[in-house]
Amino acid sequence: MVLSKEHSLAVAATAAAALAGIAWLRSKQRARSAATPKHKQRVCIIGSGPSGLATMRAFQTLADQGEPVPELVCYEKQSNWGGLWNYSWRTGIDENGNTVHSSMYKYLWSNAPKECLEFADYSFEEHFGRSIASYPPRPVLFDYIQGRAEKSGIRKYIQFNTNVESTEYDDATGKFTVKTCETVLRDPDNPRSAMVKKHKTEEFDYVVCASGHYAYPNYPNFQGLESFQGRVLHAHDMRDACEFKGLDVLLVGTSYSAEDIASQVWKYGAKSVAISHRTSPIGHTTWPDDITEVPLLTKVVSSLESSTADDGFRRHQKVSQQGGTAYFADGSSKHVDAIILCTGYLHHFPFLSDELRLNPHDGEGQPINKIWLKGLYRGIFWMKNPKLIHIGPHTGFFTMNLFDAQAWLCRDFIMGTFKLPDAVGMSKYDAMMCDRAMELEEDDGHGHYDHRCIHFQGNYMKELIDLTDYPSFDVEETKRRFFEWEEHKQEGIMTFRDNAYKSVVTGNMAALLLDRNGKRIMWKDAMADTCESFGLWDMYNGNVRKTTQSQ
Ligand SMILES: Cc1cc2nc3c(=O)[nH]c(=O)nc-3n(C[C@H](O)[C@H](O)[C@H](O)COP(=O)(O)OP(=O)(O)OC[C@H]3O[C@@H](n4cnc5c(N)ncnc54)[C@H](O)[C@@H]3O)c2cc1C
Ligand SMILES: NC(=O)c1ccc[n+]([C@@H]2O[C@H](COP(=O)([O-])OP(=O)(O)OC[C@H]3O[C@@H](n4cnc5c(N)ncnc54)[C@H](OP(=O)(O)O)[C@@H]3O)[C@@H](O)[C@H]2O)c1
Repeated sequence: MVLSKEHSLAVAATAAAALAGIAWLRSKQRARSAATPKHKQRVCIIGSGPSGLATMRAFQTLADQGEPVPELVCYEKQSNWGGLWNYSWRTGIDENGNTVHSSMYKYLWSNAPKECLEFADYSFEEHFGRSIASYPPRPVLFDYIQGRAEKSGIRKYIQFNTNVESTEYDDATGKFTVKTCETVLRDPDNPRSAMVKKHKTEEFDYVVCASGHYAYPNYPNFQGLESFQGRVLHAHDMRDACEFKGLDVLLVGTSYSAEDIASQVWKYGAKSVAISHRTSPIGHTTWPDDITEVPLLTKVVSSLESSTADDGFRRHQKVSQQGGTAYFADGSSKHVDAIILCTGYLHHFPFLSDELRLNPHDGEGQPINKIWLKGLYRGIFWMKNPKLIHIGPHTGFFTMNLFDAQAWLCRDFIMGTFKLPDAVGMSKYDAMMCDRAMELEEDDGHGHYDHRCIHFQGNYMKELIDLTDYPSFDVEETKRRFFEWEEHKQEGIMTFRDNAYKSVVTGNMAALLLDRNGKRIMWKDAMADTCESFGLWDMYNGNVRKTTQSQ
């Protein structure tokens, strides 16, 4: 074959360019292989609630773009994902012999607009195919959380029914040793066969702790509880408000659990509800007449103790379930049949060794509001060993989208594209954030406490989003959704869930809740809590999606 001069020159130029390209590619590969350790990095994720799922999703977005990602192993002690949103009727010990994680109850509806927690990369509209109302009940939110996880294909990383029992770090090897216990049936086809425990020990380069912090109750004691002749439980064990129908119920605590459980037991027919405060009352002026606020509980005296046992055993039987008298700090008293301790939860990580364990309950300089936890750089990296990363450890207002932003930063650190400052730099940042979080407690004359917290947490989330490629969205607008929500709660504690808000992700307005005939349903009259009953009757049977529906 004879080539023209021009053609020969073009071929030579192309070959030179190709060689240059190969050389460039080789040098890039060399740089990457120099940065990549010889073994494949292994990341252990503890828990597959929204925080753990966000972490897997963050890595999967890179994997989907063809980037090599570390090996992910997520241990989940329950038999399904979703964390607290995965409701369990059980209390106490679960089917695997571990403590029950679930703290949610039947008929729980979101206590803030869904527009405040919407994933920036997976809108409610994408999931349901249309606009839905702003305050979904638990099963609807669970379905949404699962929708993104399923779409990402991350179930393959999770080992279910596997409890993390201990985590230790070895300075010499630079690795974590994680011990787990998986519970399996001896015969998987026979649900009545014996449970078998399989213990395993594995090594990891990083540990992501996403185990949640609303599963271990804070249990204060009150004089007389041990002999009280009625039901005493913590909000963690609350499952069904109908249990309190016709009863005089006393709640201790004034935060979100107390507020929500008071509203719920009222909605499902409690005779009266008294809410006892340690610091100050919740103070809603719109509480229904049969919900009152009372000072701190000092003691309870059972009906049995205050009666005379003059007619022996039969009389004892009669009074045995009649509650007792509750006494309060101002000397007042009231008859109560049941007591629910809405006294919050403990950050508890029994599976982390002493040197690795975050304990915000006794740290000096620790903001008491736990909106910031001392010792976590950028809110997630355990400063004593930043290869241990916490996702979702704070209390506060922002949830799912904040977990996402944290998960994206965690991923970038593990991938080597986000670098940490030295120990001094991390401490400086942490001290600044602790100071700011503590200042939130002081009235600075610029709005009330909740608003200051929403600004603090929203700004923190913005900082994380700016550091990562998590899809940007209007955080200032999301803060405004929270402020609207607070106003609506002031206007009516039993009506705030009837409002609708605009999505910051799609820009579309939420729908109003309607029944099959197009009639408006108000929260206080909506007794069912299934996906079907939440205006999605054409798409769901109960909580099960109809397979034939088209979106
Ligand atoms: C009653 C209640 C109502 C709430 N309502 C709302 C609401 O309306 N809106 C909102 O945005 N947020 C709400 N929240 C906040 C809630 O905490 C978050 O929405 C979210 O569930 C936190 O996700 P997470 O993954 O960090 O933790 P979790 O949801 O608690 O998930 C942690 C996971 O870790 C697993 N795990 C724990 N220990 C181990 C172990 N040793 N080994 C293996 N696995 C382990 C658990 O089984 C669980 O699956 C509510 C919280 C409570 C308690
Ligand atoms: N979706 C929903 O509707 C819903 C429902 C319930 C809960 N939640 C969520 O669940 C999480 C936890 O909320 P929470 O209310 O359980 O816990 P919390 O916010 O930590 O509040 C704990 C409450 O217990 C009180 N308390 C603690 N120890 C006490 C003691 N020894 N004596 C008297 N009172 C005591 C505290 O009073 P002080 O103020 O005096 O400290 C505070 O009012 C929040 O994220 C909330 O949003 C959501």
